[in-house]
Amino acid sequence: MWSTEQQQRINDAADRLRAGEAVAFATETVYGLGANTFDERAVAKVFELKRRPRFDPLIVHVEGVSRVEQLVTEMSDHARKLAEAFWPGPLTLVLPKRDAVPDLVTSGLSTVAVRVPGHPMARALIEASATAIAAPSANRFGGVSPTTAQHVRDEFGDATPVLDGGTCETGVESTVVSFDETGMPVVLRLGGVTVEAMREVVGKVTIAEPRAIKNDEAQPSPGMLGKHYAPRTPMELVDLIDPASFDDRAADRIGLLLYLGRGDAIEQRFGAVEVLTRKADPAEAAANLFSAMRRLDASGVERIIAERVPDIGLGRAINDRLTRASR
Ligand code: TXA
Ligand code: MG
Repeated sequence: MWSTEQQQRINDAADRLRAGEAVAFATETVYGLGANTFDERAVAKVFELKRRPRFDPLIVHVEGVSRVEQLVTEMSDHARKLAEAFWPGPLTLVLPKRDAVPDLVTSGLSTVAVRVPGHPMARALIEASATAIAAPSANRFGGVSPTTAQHVRDEFGDATPVLDGGTCETGVESTVVSFDETGMPVVLRLGGVTVEAMREVVGKVTIAEPRAIKNDEAQPSPGMLGKHYAPRTPMELVDLIDPASFDDRAADRIGLLLYLGRGDAIEQRFGAVEVLTRKADPAEAAANLFSAMRRLDASGVERIIAERVPDIGLGRAINDRLTRASR
């Protein structure tokens, strides 16, 4: 399936992982910055490179359910059903961990987040390295997640090797799911697998309420908190932009992040405009989201105004990212 050159790059990245280096790699959601899960010094490098606080645990990427079983003490029926339905794919399950998983990876929690990615290059890397890869998104903490190899290079320079697998198809991170005392699935982070699709498989699925979590409490999922996924340019989120409320001079300094197109007459008045989808396709909008935010950030506008998207399916994950980016 791979050319000789591609296989060489995969093997090279696997060698580096085994040697304790951090390697960025493509997944179907966003690019990850990976280390060998069982090499704490390598994992520590990932935290340092990202400038990520140690209290925010990493996702462990493995090739399949049998490998997950070596990392966790149990998989409930609901966990198994979700795994069967959505792995390989953009779903992360939070399960009780075995001692073999280093505390650094899980930030001292008794659970570990595991995912079986679907991107063939991520799968090939896991296979070639013969380990489990602990990887957060390959961006500085709090910033916009990378969906191309170039985004990763923009962030970390050439010192960090990147296994280039093209543009990420899903474009938003995986859905992170934990289980409550009764075993029911609770979404900690909205993402590439929709709540609706999970409900079809397991019935009831609740979404954790971020406002119920206080900053000084033990955090069920640190990624649920605070400002995140944010461009450097100030961003605000509105239901619907009213172009008439800006004169031409003001509009020229504003970047718009639109779900649907609004026609040339309106779009041309603004300093920069990104349209997530011109055909009301939420999957296309999700795939474009982070690239569009980066382009607006680089366009030189003074502020970005984003429009909320329809809050169903993948639209929920998009609204979640827009909300956090505009805090
Ligand atoms: O799509 C993705 O999930 C990407 C690709 C690379 O797989 N990874 C990713 O990683 O987005 P990161 O580190 O940016 O986000 C991981 C999220 C964080 O919100 C973290 O708090 C949560 O998963 N998490 C990790 N371990 C957890 C645990 N044991 N319990 C609760 N939440 C956990
Ligand atoms: Mg991240």
